[in-house]
Amino acid sequence: MRRQEPYSMNEAGRDHATQAGHARQNSASKRLEDENEQLRLSLGSVREEAEAFAEERAELERKLDVRTRALRQAEAQLAMHRSKPQDFRGRLGTPGARLLDVMASRRDRDAPDEEGRIALEEMRVLAEELEAGNAALSLANQELEQRVSSRTSELAAAREALHRSEERLRLALTFAGAGEWDLRLGENRATWSKEWCALHGLDAASAEPCRETWTGRVHPEDLLAVEAALERSLKGGQPDFAVEYRLRDARGGERWLAGRGRLLHDAHGHPMQLSGLSFDITARKAAERVLARRNLLLEEEVEAAMAARQAAQTQRFQTMKMEALGQLTGGVAHDFNNVLAVLISGMTLLLRADSEEQRNSLLQSMMQAARRGATLTQRLLTFARRQPLQSDPLELQIWMQEMHGLAAPVLRAGMRLKTEAEGDVGPVLVDRGELEQAMLNVLVNARDAMPNGGTVTLSARKVHVQAASDPDGLDGDFVELGVEDEGHGIPPEMLPRIFEPFFTTKPVGKGTGLGLPQVYGFARQSGGTVRVASEVGKGTRIALLLPCAKGAGQCVTVPQGEAPAPMAQDAPMLVLVVEDDDQVAAMTVELLRTLGHTVQRVSSTDEALHALEQTQFDFLLADVMLGGGPDGIELAVAVSRLWPNLPLLLASGYGGMPERIAAAKLPLLRKPFGEDELRQAIRAVCARAGRALSPCPGPAARPTGRSGPSADGAARLPSQGPS
Ligand SMILES: Nc1ncnc2c1ncn2[C@@H]1O[C@H](COP(=O)(O)OP(=O)(O)OP(=O)(O)O)[C@@H](O)[C@H]1O
Ligand SMILES: [Mg+2]
Repeated sequence: MRRQEPYSMNEAGRDHATQAGHARQNSASKRLEDENEQLRLSLGSVREEAEAFAEERAELERKLDVRTRALRQAEAQLAMHRSKPQDFRGRLGTPGARLLDVMASRRDRDAPDEEGRIALEEMRVLAEELEAGNAALSLANQELEQRVSSRTSELAAAREALHRSEERLRLALTFAGAGEWDLRLGENRATWSKEWCALHGLDAASAEPCRETWTGRVHPEDLLAVEAALERSLKGGQPDFAVEYRLRDARGGERWLAGRGRLLHDAHGHPMQLSGLSFDITARKAAERVLARRNLLLEEEVEAAMAARQAAQTQRFQTMKMEALGQLTGGVAHDFNNVLAVLISGMTLLLRADSEEQRNSLLQSMMQAARRGATLTQRLLTFARRQPLQSDPLELQIWMQEMHGLAAPVLRAGMRLKTEAEGDVGPVLVDRGELEQAMLNVLVNARDAMPNGGTVTLSARKVHVQAASDPDGLDGDFVELGVEDEGHGIPPEMLPRIFEPFFTTKPVGKGTGLGLPQVYGFARQSGGTVRVASEVGKGTRIALLLPCAKGAGQCVTVPQGEAPAPMAQDAPMLVLVVEDDDQVAAMTVELLRTLGHTVQRVSSTDEALHALEQTQFDFLLADVMLGGGPDGIELAVAVSRLWPNLPLLLASGYGGMPERIAAAKLPLLRKPFGEDELRQAIRAVCARAGRALSPCPGPAARPTGRSGPSADGAARLPSQGPS
């Protein structure tokens, strides 16, 4: 609004122009007053207009406020998807635009003064701001509508998806032949789908919706299971319900259903209802029955196949056994025929021999042949583990040094024997004689494998073996005695056969194929085993696992092969010989007589006991195998008890009872034996018995019963025969 300038008058012009001045002053003052009045009037009307506009603006703002609220409400409603944008679109307006229109019309109607224009200008700005707000509001509204529209289509898509998924579920239920059911707790009220009713042969319209209607359809044999499953779930013990049952079918048909359900809880977590599905499993049950039948058939077929395989295997083993037996018999026959050939032809020639020298030569050849036969049987018995072993603790390291002397005759020029021991290996429990025989067999093989010489290494080390990991099931501490050569080696395909009796790759007359079988039989019977490793062109290693000795020796060792002492040193004795074979007995008696002894022979245990009661003997020599009645071991045990001071010696050509002999700790002489072996054995037994081999007066001069039956005085034996 424009301001009025203050009025002022010049003092010098006052005289002349006082009156004119007064007049002018008055008229000016009048004009001023008029102008003031007009201004006052116009200001009043502007004020009125401004007030009207302010009111109008307030009204518009109120309306805008109302619309904004309506808009917010609509937006909120939209957010809840309860309303559509069209519902409020018509209610929106443009108050700023209308205000500008009004102002424009007013400006056209009257031309306001400065103050009015200022007021109008302010209102125009206000109206423009209002219009801008309105435009922003309209933009927001559009955006909102867009959001509403996209949310609405999202909602529609979601509804569509839900609908499709429900359809699919329904289809799945229909195709699966499943029906829905609910059992409400505490009300005995059921709800079920028409599919469920169809499954259970019920009319959906008329069937009473309760538990009994359901269970009434269940086959009596399955009723208990269904009731129990329902109870378990309804009482909350087992929230998941699962049962398979048949339906009662008047036509005798069988239909299987499966019920699966779960206990549902209300918002407070209280069990509310059991809801689930039932579906037809008749086909599955039928398939299961077929499968079970097929399984049974398959099992029977497998069993039959196994039995056939077992039979084939047994047949194969039998064939192999027969082959092995044939090989063994052939080998034995071959070797014995050679022995017998020498003996028979030797004896024939002996009858015709002219000179003493010729006779001696023939006898030597025959003796050699017979000894070869004896070695042959001994090796066979060792392989069969029938040879009674006389195991004693043996210091292996010392023995290994002695092996140099023993091996010397076996090794050829260009061969070297090396011995090495890993730490202190300690004693092993073995039959020294058999061990040496085994070592010689292995050394001969090494020699034969190294025609151009080489080194044979004899080694010993202690090993611990566990049954769980050992192929032979050995357990405990052993000494591994290895013999390694640098020979041509053994082809892999031949390795499994080298322990077979009579298996040999050596030319006729060079090998019998009984060397390694003896090694194997000896090691196994000693409680150990043999392992072989070989590489063609590099060499072979044969390792014997021998049990470590824990205590003292187990049986009396009868040294063999020692140089015989002169016969004159042995005092004559009265010897009782128990032998059921007349020929063997005759020879044994003759041998004993040759040794200077007096001999009485009986052929059974009973006769022996009777003879011992009648006569005091200095020595008892008994065969182990005595036909009919108790055997030689039983006799020896009884005699040891009744006549503890009587030295006794068992003789056996067949070690059928090596364990019994070892257990009874009885001295044993292996058959066949010659004069030297017999003399040595008798000496050893007498020495062990502490008997001085002093000259004796002869049977006739001695009183009988000098050391008769002890304590109980009866010479009785159990009447069981040898096995
Ligand atoms: N150290 C070795 N190197 C190469 N081959 C060997 C060795 N030891 C054994 N063999 C093979 O194993 C076969 C059987 O050996 P085994 O000692 O049982 O009988 P042999 O040596 O043939 O005859 P025997 O020992 O009765 O005189 C031998 O013929 C040989 O082929
Ligand atoms: Mg050999």
